[in-house]
Amino acid sequence: MSDPIVSIRNISKQFDSVLALDDVSIDIRPGEIFALLGPSGCGKSTLLRVISGFETPTSGELLLDGEDMTQLPPNKRPINMVFQSYAVFPHMNVETNVAYGLKMDKVPSDEIKTRVATALAQVHLEDFAKRMPDQLSGGQRQRVALARALVKKPRVLLLDEPLSALDAKLRDAMRLELVKLQETVGITFIIVTHDQAEAMAMADRIAVLESGKLRQVATPEELYSHPIDGFVADFIGNINSFAVSSWHADNGQISLTAEHLNTVVLAIDETPAFLLSEAPASDAVLAVRPEHVTVSLTQPDENHVSLRGTLGDVAYQGQHCIAEIRLDNGTSISAIIDNALAKSLPSALEQAPIWAFWQANNMLLLPRKVD
Ligand SMILES: Nc1ncnc2c1ncn2[C@@H]1O[C@H](COP(=O)(O)OP(=O)(O)OP(=O)(O)O)[C@@H](O)[C@H]1O
Ligand SMILES: [Mg+2]
Repeated sequence: MSDPIVSIRNISKQFDSVLALDDVSIDIRPGEIFALLGPSGCGKSTLLRVISGFETPTSGELLLDGEDMTQLPPNKRPINMVFQSYAVFPHMNVETNVAYGLKMDKVPSDEIKTRVATALAQVHLEDFAKRMPDQLSGGQRQRVALARALVKKPRVLLLDEPLSALDAKLRDAMRLELVKLQETVGITFIIVTHDQAEAMAMADRIAVLESGKLRQVATPEELYSHPIDGFVADFIGNINSFAVSSWHADNGQISLTAEHLNTVVLAIDETPAFLLSEAPASDAVLAVRPEHVTVSLTQPDENHVSLRGTLGDVAYQGQHCIAEIRLDNGTSISAIIDNALAKSLPSALEQAPIWAFWQANNMLLLPRKVD
């Protein structure tokens, strides 16, 4: 495995009473698209600003290629940032906007010319060089901001919510374009987003943050199939969680009881450490993804984990539907079902009993939260 290009080591950032980053350590590899993901206020932008040098950490250090740059000002770091508001100068045309940073650096004018042309080609704006920003679409302005950053040939490009100002269709197209661009230029991208679908679609690896703490760093697949705790499982896609009330491990198996469920038996190599701690069993959850839940009018056999309820809202998603199954105690779970089944089920108004069931081995046994 290659040495990290950016090492974030035990970084904390205190703003008055808010601990925005709490002892965060991450290694980012050269050439990867790395996403910082988490709910609003979790510290994503603060971490990006610490990497760029616009914010000084309260403690910890930041290395680039193994060299400490914690005290270097932003303009001395081989790092460039595309801000969320993608500030382009309104009174300069596209070409002048892109050339601006190089002019400030006193780069010779013929070199500026070739580098600006290359950057504009990279973002497919060759034909827009003489346009003013107010003659561009939102997506095109976003590309100007990208070209302005790329032209400086940074080692690392930081992007804070780069697509959030774009409409849904353009956002999807730009996601793919950014991934392609990154493959072409080979620069390490660190992208901040609160949109898990965006992070999953673009990133090689994702760091999930919550309240300034790093929860998990993994590939999108790994985060989805092996979330470290209930928070990550819930943040990455939808999941149905049930609080565990008791458990018993024996002979490579663990039997668990959880709210609403019949006994769930899982094969295990060893009892998970979080169950062995002093914490009560209810700090553990059993969870199942909606795509593993089957819905039927008839009761399944005993080899399944099952629940009885009635149909709630059904949301049409194009390829399939997301159905809500309301349980007797007022809570509900969700299932992905095909459109034909959705049509054949009794309507929510009828309140007829239906069954939701799944295989025990599709369940995840997780700590509610890792501290
Ligand atoms: N300059 C500042 N002074 C005081 N508190 C700040 C400052 N900047 C950020 N914070 C606080 O630090 C926490 C993290 O903020 P940050 O901007 O990093 O969140 P974020 O994850 O980027 O959220 P969002 O998704 O809403 O952009 C928040 O509680 C925020 O209010
Ligand atoms: Mg932010």
